[in-house]
Amino acid sequence: MTDPLQPTPLTAGNWKMNGLSASTGELAALIHAVNTKTAPTCGILICPPYTLIAAMAAQAAGSTVMIGAQDCHAAYSGAHTGDISADMIADAGATHIIVGHSERRADHGESSELVKAKAVATHQAGLIAIICVGETDAERDAGKTLEVVGDQIARSIPDGSAAENTIIAYEPVWAIGTGRTPTVEDVADVHSAIRSALVARFGASGQAFALLYGGSVKPSNASELMAAANVNGALVGGASLKATDFDGIIDAYRV
Ligand code: 13P
Repeated sequence: MTDPLQPTPLTAGNWKMNGLSASTGELAALIHAVNTKTAPTCGILICPPYTLIAAMAAQAAGSTVMIGAQDCHAAYSGAHTGDISADMIADAGATHIIVGHSERRADHGESSELVKAKAVATHQAGLIAIICVGETDAERDAGKTLEVVGDQIARSIPDGSAAENTIIAYEPVWAIGTGRTPTVEDVADVHSAIRSALVARFGASGQAFALLYGGSVKPSNASELMAAANVNGALVGGASLKATDFDGIIDAYRV
């Protein structure tokens, strides 16, 4: 029998602002690999730009690959020109929404309070929120990693969160797209602090939230990072754009 407090691992790809209609070929290649190789012990998610969600959700239907979005507006609907609501994302066939990615926190000035509101909107649409946290290079150098991440965790996660509707992604800003990664010990330290904060807030059920690591994950370092304590999967940027690379990361969950 499966342990209800054991997190379900997830390998998630964040395509960021990459992907045109021809990119559905990469999804086709990924689905082919997933259908023909040993079934991994993790879920598989691709978060393309909004413009590809409906087509890719239709393409992935019937496979184990899930499709998500990279952001949403906090409101249900209304006068917000150019924005996309969680309900629209659900309607397009997605199952997950990434909220609070450091690129949105930096490029769009998103506060943890706004990230929390977006997570609430995600939950209200019946979708799973992937809430991102992580320190900058300067914050790490100043020895503030656990303080910064702890503050983001406290303020970005809504009260109604549970393992069924919320995943946390720890992505050190300085590791994103740089080829630099923290040591496995550093990742384990931060993930264990996040786990403790979740248990302190949500009780034993805090054990069940999946905690993803993100930042320069690639096939060559995935197994080592995924084996760290309290690491329950990856949030992958660059290496998720090519099916062969992404499938090589999923291999960490094929025994
Ligand atoms: P990279 O894997 O390209 O470092 O990006 C990580 C990331 O930001 C995923 O959300």
